[in-house]
Amino acid sequence: MLPNIKSQFMLDPKITHLNHGSFGATPKPIFDSLVDWQKKLEMNPTKHLGYDIYDFLKESRKSLANYIHCDKDDIAFMPNPSTALNTVIKSLDIKKDDEILSSNHEYGTLDRTWNYISKKTGSKYIQVPVVLPLESENDFIETFLKHITSKTKIIFLSQITSSTGLIFPIKKICEIAKQKNIISIIDGAHVPGHINLNIKKLNPDIYTGACHKWMCSPKGTAFLYVTKKLQNIIKPLVISWGYDSDLPSHSQFLDYLQWQGTNDISSYLTIPDTINFLEKNNWKSISQKCRELNIWARDEVNKLLKIESISDDKFLGQMSSIPIKSSDILEDQIEFYLKYNIQIPFFKWHEKEFLRISIQAYNTKEDIFKLLEALDDKYN
Ligand SMILES: Cc1ncc(COP(=O)(O)O)c(C=O)c1O
Repeated sequence: MLPNIKSQFMLDPKITHLNHGSFGATPKPIFDSLVDWQKKLEMNPTKHLGYDIYDFLKESRKSLANYIHCDKDDIAFMPNPSTALNTVIKSLDIKKDDEILSSNHEYGTLDRTWNYISKKTGSKYIQVPVVLPLESENDFIETFLKHITSKTKIIFLSQITSSTGLIFPIKKICEIAKQKNIISIIDGAHVPGHINLNIKKLNPDIYTGACHKWMCSPKGTAFLYVTKKLQNIIKPLVISWGYDSDLPSHSQFLDYLQWQGTNDISSYLTIPDTINFLEKNNWKSISQKCRELNIWARDEVNKLLKIESISDDKFLGQMSSIPIKSSDILEDQIEFYLKYNIQIPFFKWHEKEFLRISIQAYNTKEDIFKLLEALDDKYN
């Protein structure tokens, strides 16, 4: 798409990369920032990790908060959304018969975490079926809200789903949750750097996002946002020095979560450079072009395989999932890599198989032509 941008990524040029959604990819200037921070640490670990780290983290939180529109003290860095949501789910006071209302499009790790907690507490994890094709925001909202009962304690939804790659209209759901005194928890793993994220306007109680996916940060960079009113209920997964701190700061939330034992958290400190890179390269316009390429790619694949879209275009960003025949998803994914040099994920979602296209700044129509050739060879 943009050759000068493509050359900044370190991806193997022999491979067609159509899987940005799973693990992201980091451009050289952002990777260089990671190495600079790691060198800084190694030059003086005592100073860096012993005391400077809190000021460095503050600067990084400030930069991220400005980018996602919230207070810098309402976010803590986390290695990934799984850790962020496990921290939250294990902190909540969930009782027998409480209901957690969700959808049948959630990420498998989180289904498993909610099932674990439901078994432990006697609560119910309810997954509202969001039927495909998804065509109307109102239908989605109305169907979902019909399942709220007097026992609904939590609403848990992805803003962009993993297997089906759909953007859910969560703003209205967060508003209604607030009116009904239900805790809203949003899994925004795929959101930052992909679609606009304005936490203030969205106003969820709890939100997590990965920076290493669509913001292109180094791996292991994510955040947990918690509204001030709920921050005191959050407990760390790892009890460390910030718990019963000898030197408490103004925020228990930050004391509990910022230090989880010795680790290289240089990736968190690259956020100002990451955002600088995105802004310098006019990433909003790149995202828009990627979305257009994604919709074109989905239409071409659907035409080739004679299948229907799983949603209206308005639910799509830079990913699209396409139903596909596959008797062994992992075998097919590896075949696409070994035979056609294409990295594209195959998923199973409720007994149906899908492949998911991701389009990032380094992708071009050429990549989609290669995918179409491979699909034609395998399926036609
Ligand atoms: C919607 C969604 N939530 C949560 C996660 C978990 O992310 P991680 O494995 O980085 O914790 C993913 C990962 O792809 C995801 O797609």
